[in-house]
Amino acid sequence: MLKGKRILIGVTGGIAAYKTATIIRLLVKEGAEVKVIMTEHAKAFITPLTMATLSKNPVLTEFFSPENGSWNSHIELGTWADLFLIAPATANTIAKMANGVADNLLITTYLSARCKVFIAPSMDVDMLSHEATVRNLGILKSYGNHILDAPSGELASGLTGKGRMSEPEDIVKVISDYFSKKKTISP
Ligand SMILES: Cc1cc2nc3c(=O)[nH]c(=O)nc-3n(C[C@H](O)[C@H](O)[C@H](O)COP(=O)(O)O)c2cc1C
Repeated sequence: MLKGKRILIGVTGGIAAYKTATIIRLLVKEGAEVKVIMTEHAKAFITPLTMATLSKNPVLTEFFSPENGSWNSHIELGTWADLFLIAPATANTIAKMANGVADNLLITTYLSARCKVFIAPSMDVDMLSHEATVRNLGILKSYGNHILDAPSGELASGLTGKGRMSEPEDIVKVISDYFSKKKTISP
């Protein structure tokens, strides 16, 4: 079902970024073409080398290279993708997406994307239940984005509650289901 599908993955600076490596591996195994955009903070949690190796494509972060002036087109990335998954999505990036704050490649690409966007929030229980985050996720949902539930469990902080990123296998299943439903509906 995922063969030849072009999937863009946005990785932000949350502790669950290591799980996104598994998502990429599973998608590539299923035949998807995967490109990865990382925020600067995401690079503190998992290396671009890991993500580039697993996705078989260079990882994108910068708008342009100051050395040679080459630049990454968020418009092209946004129109290239059949699906854009942001996993993990931090409270910070969720807030910026909800408000159209376009200060990095991930968010300019989000604003340019014509495809369905799936967002996998991941943060501490109190950050997730804060009114600001609840409101921002509601705004993103109202834009037509699909918010993946952040299940309950033990969190990296030591607290217990909602905020874990969905498991990689579950996220890949949601993506596969989306494409199979799309195939059924399309003429
Ligand atoms: C060890 C550590 C773990 C963090 N984990 C999370 C997290 O799981 N979710 C979250 O929303 N923010 C988390 N943060 C805070 C983000 O890294 C911070 O808000 C950052 O500005 C996010 O930037 P980005 O959204 O551009 O990637 C963590 C910070 C540290 C130092």
